[in-house]
Amino acid sequence: MAEQTTGMCYFRAMKFFIDTANLDQIREAEALGVLDGVTTNPSLMAKEGITGDEAVKAHYKAICEIVDGDVSAEVIATDFEGMIEEGQALAALHPNIVVKVPAIADGIRAIRWFTDNGIRTNCTLIFSPGQALLAAKAGASYVSPFVGRIDDISSDGLQLIEKIRVIYDNYDFGTEILAASVRHTMHIIECAEIGADIMTGPLSAMKGLLKHPLTDNGLAQFLADHAKANG
Ligand code: E4P
Repeated sequence: MAEQTTGMCYFRAMKFFIDTANLDQIREAEALGVLDGVTTNPSLMAKEGITGDEAVKAHYKAICEIVDGDVSAEVIATDFEGMIEEGQALAALHPNIVVKVPAIADGIRAIRWFTDNGIRTNCTLIFSPGQALLAAKAGASYVSPFVGRIDDISSDGLQLIEKIRVIYDNYDFGTEILAASVRHTMHIIECAEIGADIMTGPLSAMKGLLKHPLTDNGLAQFLADHAKANG
């Protein structure tokens, strides 16, 4: 897990990544002061209208300029040679780029190659503990189990995070569990209870953590009492 400073002491902290390619949302999350990184995927890039090799690369660079933390950039190739070529080009864009590779046989092979060549990886589209185990053995920096998409098919996404936590804790895997496809505040809280190293989700879920009517009512009362006492 990450070490974080409060100014006085160090503690182990859950990292917060935002799952978007939208620069305004990344800026807003960064301004909250709790953002540790960004994840993207080809769908999120397409949603922002980012197309073509050069535009994609420029967009990743722009994200890296906003956030001082890891930025996952996904390869499009699905064969080993293609992933290596693409991943090297992505990694060369910025030291914070982490190459995102799908959990398929050529992907695991590519993760081993990237690991041996000093390039960090995020193994994505993880839907089983076995995939997470293989990715960790290949040396992935992160694995991304997709919590929300498992829930979408009436299964239990958080149970997958629990199982991976147990497996990684049984050994000395340095791979961090990046709970992905997080959709809402309870996903974040339950991932924190389980001990996921990182969660990546939308800005709305992060901001949702703050919402409480008693906070709003209490603040309104404090301000009203202060105004009354001070004229
Ligand atoms: C992971 O890194 C993916 O980008 C992402 O979390 C997928 O989320 P979704 O299932 O909400 O599309």
